[in-house]
Amino acid sequence: MSTLIDTYGRSHRDLRVSLTDRCSLRCTYCMPHDFAAWLPSEKLLRTDELLTVIEVATSAGIDEVRLTGGEPLLRPDIADIVTRINALPKAPKLSLTTNGLRLAELAGPLADAGLMRVNVSLDTLNRERFKMLTFRDRIGDVFKGLSAAREAGLFPIKINSVLMPAVNEDEAPALLRWALAQGFSLRFIEQMPLDAGGIWNRSTMVTADDIFAALSTNYALTPVPARGSAPAEEFYINGGPETVGIIASVTRPFCGSCDRLRLTSDGQLRSCLFSHEEMDLRRVLRNKELSKEEIHQEIADRFHKTVLGKLPGHGINDLNFIQPFRPMSAIGG
Ligand code: 5AD
Ligand code: SF4
Repeated sequence: MSTLIDTYGRSHRDLRVSLTDRCSLRCTYCMPHDFAAWLPSEKLLRTDELLTVIEVATSAGIDEVRLTGGEPLLRPDIADIVTRINALPKAPKLSLTTNGLRLAELAGPLADAGLMRVNVSLDTLNRERFKMLTFRDRIGDVFKGLSAAREAGLFPIKINSVLMPAVNEDEAPALLRWALAQGFSLRFIEQMPLDAGGIWNRSTMVTADDIFAALSTNYALTPVPARGSAPAEEFYINGGPETVGIIASVTRPFCGSCDRLRLTSDGQLRSCLFSHEEMDLRRVLRNKELSKEEIHQEIADRFHKTVLGKLPGHGINDLNFIQPFRPMSAIGG
């Protein structure tokens, strides 16, 4: 039972943990290609500090942890982090969202460390477009990483795709055909206003309806019932059993059933991607005047305070919406 219940009755079970704000790609919807405002490394939580936060969170009712970034596989001790999370008294369900570049070398060690599944971000199958979209010529590494993940037995392998106008908006059916052939589960994510470069545009964004219409020219899609708190609306493809997901964060917000909290790589707890407030856990973790028990208690209190301050929704569709002050890479997907 989660004790992390907010003033709207939402029970929080899912913690997204950013392991670093650094990334080996520069996806345009995430950060400007010349982004340089990286967090200084002494501000990043060390592994023992991360473990303390996750241990407290699981005691309070978090039962699912997703490791994110930036790019979480840039963290040198990533396999050790997975092992140590799995060894916690209340080990949460664990997954990881990656751009896939380092999976070729790390999928095996991660599976050995007890990781079950992986989410890989890939928005195009075309090398030139990948280069344009990420400012790096590395699509081959993603494909190699995906093969390694399958060989290591990670399952399911989920692919996250963001479609953008005049970039890759025509690729929805091709991405689905490829994912089906490879045995990957595909989810399309509506682009959200999170990039530091301000490229998001409501009037031109590719919506869930656009994606549904594009896929429907090739596939019969029928809704899968029972969505729960999962952000993706799932559809059976040609009667199933395979499915495709559409995450309509902007046009059909699912804030009412949100069960997620986020820990930034510098140890700030957020109740939403779009929060304007953060709760400082790093300062508590590094307070030399507190005993271990006092640190645990104060972190637990800060989890509860964060949850109690959670707003009903992200407000993207409000007239006075203001983007969060950090780019997505710093908050963690
Ligand atoms: N809108 C939607 N999705 C985004 N992601 C990163 N930035 C955005 C954005 N502005 C996605 C990545 C990754 C996931 C964690 O979040 O593609 O798959
Ligand atoms: Fe890196 Fe992910 Fe941001 Fe792309 S979306 S630049 S892979 S953190």
